[in-house]
Amino acid sequence: MSHNLLKGKRGLIFGALNESSIAWKVAELAHEEGATFVLTNTPVAMRMGTIDELAARTGSFVIPADATNVADLERLVKEGMEKLGGKFDFVLHSIGMSPNVRKGRTYDDLDYDYLDKTLDISAISFHKILQVCWKLDAINEWGSVLALSYIAAQRTLYGYNDMADAKALLESIARSFGYIYGRERQVRINTISQSPTMTTAGSGVMGFDALLDFADRMSPLGNASADECASFCVTMFSDLTRKITMQNLFHDGGFSNMGMSNRAMAVYNKNLEECKDCK
Ligand SMILES: NC(=O)c1ccc[n+]([C@@H]2O[C@H](COP(=O)([O-])OP(=O)(O)OC[C@H]3O[C@@H](n4cnc5c(N)ncnc54)[C@H](O)[C@@H]3O)[C@@H](O)[C@H]2O)c1
Repeated sequence: MSHNLLKGKRGLIFGALNESSIAWKVAELAHEEGATFVLTNTPVAMRMGTIDELAARTGSFVIPADATNVADLERLVKEGMEKLGGKFDFVLHSIGMSPNVRKGRTYDDLDYDYLDKTLDISAISFHKILQVCWKLDAINEWGSVLALSYIAAQRTLYGYNDMADAKALLESIARSFGYIYGRERQVRINTISQSPTMTTAGSGVMGFDALLDFADRMSPLGNASADECASFCVTMFSDLTRKITMQNLFHDGGFSNMGMSNRAMAVYNKNLEECKDCK
């Protein structure tokens, strides 16, 4: 059921690859809630994925761009405003990739060229998007910008590797640009720290199935799904949340404030003998 939360609003959505993508679910719900928007991804991702299908279904425009390339972003933002007939009211950064994770390089054996790429794609791209929008004055007053993060920014989680450092930087950029954008243009900038979610990026994390199960057992409300994340994003894009800015908002069923749960303890007890010498 639509609440028309985004009626008349224009958006820019990064990161819809296929129907598992969190950005895909956000786009579907934003459409239902009355928004018009531009979808963007890299040309390679567009060939690999099914973004055109989403565009057809939501009546949106597709403009390719590599979010690490400032010239691409300038073209995207200008063309996007032209196509939509005005400035953006919301922007979603739903981008993440680590070549170190992909190539199986562990945190004590990082390739530094890969690390540069991880940080550029997963965090600095957020600054680039914000700076391009700032210079082109592309976001309306009381607009809302979101990036998706993960609790590995604050707590060490086995296997998350250099993406943890990227997420810490991403959250810092939201605060630093959030101050400037809030002060000068009444635009809010936040990150949403989402539960582990079965997507293409998520399943690349080492031991992802076990991590997903652990987080679910630890969270009193269970893991937040991609659809639930979309609902939260749309609420944050709506006019109901105008004074929330510079925050990292946990959307994780309570995981971030737990230490141990009964459901996790049950599994732990079962394997205690077997895992006595595990490091
Ligand atoms: N899946 C999870 O468990 C989980 C949990 C918390 C946060 N997140 C975050 O959610 C966001 C979306 O990921 P997802 O889980 O939907 O996976 P996904 O694989 O569907 O989305 C990642 C997207 O990043 C895009 N991308 C990669 N390099 C890019 C570049 N240079 N320019 C533009 N786009 C680029 C990919 O094409 C893809 O569309 C990421 O920031 C991810 O870290 C995911």
